[in-house]
Amino acid sequence: MESFTLGKTPIVYFGVDSLKQAITKENNNIGQKVLIAYRGNSIKKNNIFTTVKELLESSGKKVYESSGIMSNPTYQKVQEGAAFIRKEEIDFIFAVGGGSVIDCCKMISAQAKAKKDIWEMEFVDGCFPTEFIPMASIVTASGTGAEMNNGAVITNEEKMLKTGMLGALSEFVVLDPSYTLTVPMKQVISGAFDTLSHCMETYFGKPLENNVSDEINESIMRNVISNMREVIKNPESVEIRSELTWDSSIAEVGWLKLGKTTDFQCHQIEHQLGAYTNCNHGQGLAVIHPKVYRHIYKDGLLKFVRFAKEVWHVDTENKTDEEIALAGITALEDFIKEMNLPTTLTELNVTDVDMLKEVADSTNITKGCCKQMSKEEIFEILKECL
Ligand code: NZQ
Ligand code: ZN
Repeated sequence: MESFTLGKTPIVYFGVDSLKQAITKENNNIGQKVLIAYRGNSIKKNNIFTTVKELLESSGKKVYESSGIMSNPTYQKVQEGAAFIRKEEIDFIFAVGGGSVIDCCKMISAQAKAKKDIWEMEFVDGCFPTEFIPMASIVTASGTGAEMNNGAVITNEEKMLKTGMLGALSEFVVLDPSYTLTVPMKQVISGAFDTLSHCMETYFGKPLENNVSDEINESIMRNVISNMREVIKNPESVEIRSELTWDSSIAEVGWLKLGKTTDFQCHQIEHQLGAYTNCNHGQGLAVIHPKVYRHIYKDGLLKFVRFAKEVWHVDTENKTDEEIALAGITALEDFIKEMNLPTTLTELNVTDVDMLKEVADSTNITKGCCKQMSKEEIFEILKECL
């Protein structure tokens, strides 16, 4: 295991009706002029918006609202949000939604306090924000685990880059699994696949040898897989939603990464694909993962063997290590098909090879878990995804 520092994590209110424990007159963390930030109509239709607003008003808060935070949130939206906060002198933000709303609010919170342009600060000056408008996250669609960390994935449309930034950490998080019951099944599954992807990207990080983080990770992966199967059969079950919601948070709170270096190379590729095509995050990952793994498994053979055995329970009899590793990747592919997730970029309406070259060329290359990629290899992989 590598050395690590275990940082601060948000307070979590988990369970049906947990919002009532989080928003009370006594919760001194919450300011007086409060913004509810969200995306579209879903939280109005299912009444989550009204519940949050009423609880805040009955706690004596002045409530503002701001909607339209799109999937793959843009840097422009961050700037608009920060300007609104400054104008109205908002002192607390509630991000109510999925990963996109939460990420956008993390950066709004930072930009509202920063004197400089936050993109320039982070990417040109190499300075990270230290002051924030405090915020909380109320998760209505699980999968990204964005509520548990201070990383935010933002699309800079001008620069054609979708990339990770550092913003605010939620003061507290509300995870009421029943809120996710109205999420369309396609999004439930793509969100849950994102969770599985976070686990896999961490698992194949270094060290590859046995360690406690990876053993916990295997349990989470098995749990995500079985509950993805279950949620399709029992979409009304709050129990199953509870499992998927907490899996999602655990996968990104940082615990699985303790003692490990991860590369998240599949995510880096998907993010640039998102910058060029605005594709759904979990769906893009479903297409990319198996193709990347067929390129790297030989360099992490024993870890792929372990993945096949512990996560997919593949039949190992009379098989070489290479055959077992490949059977594990095939099991992942079969699962993606079983979940009705896309297996090709064509299914995501992405067919332009020249554009894929630009995606590959602009993808951030990380140190590599089993193997370091080159831009040429990423381009090859993207063509294989067509
Ligand atoms: O527009 P509305 O009506 O709000 O619909 C939303 C949206 O379409 C819908 N939804 C949310 N709650 C609902 C609901 N529909 C019905 N009932 C409810 N209760 O679900 C959709 C959610 O969209 P979005 O937030 O974009 O999805 P997701 O949560 O998958 O977030 C994706 C974003 O997170 C980033 C991704 O890159 C992408 O930009 N990520 C953030 C990470 C982080 N900060 O740690 C890690 C991830 O790897 C990821 O990169
Ligand atoms: Zn992800």
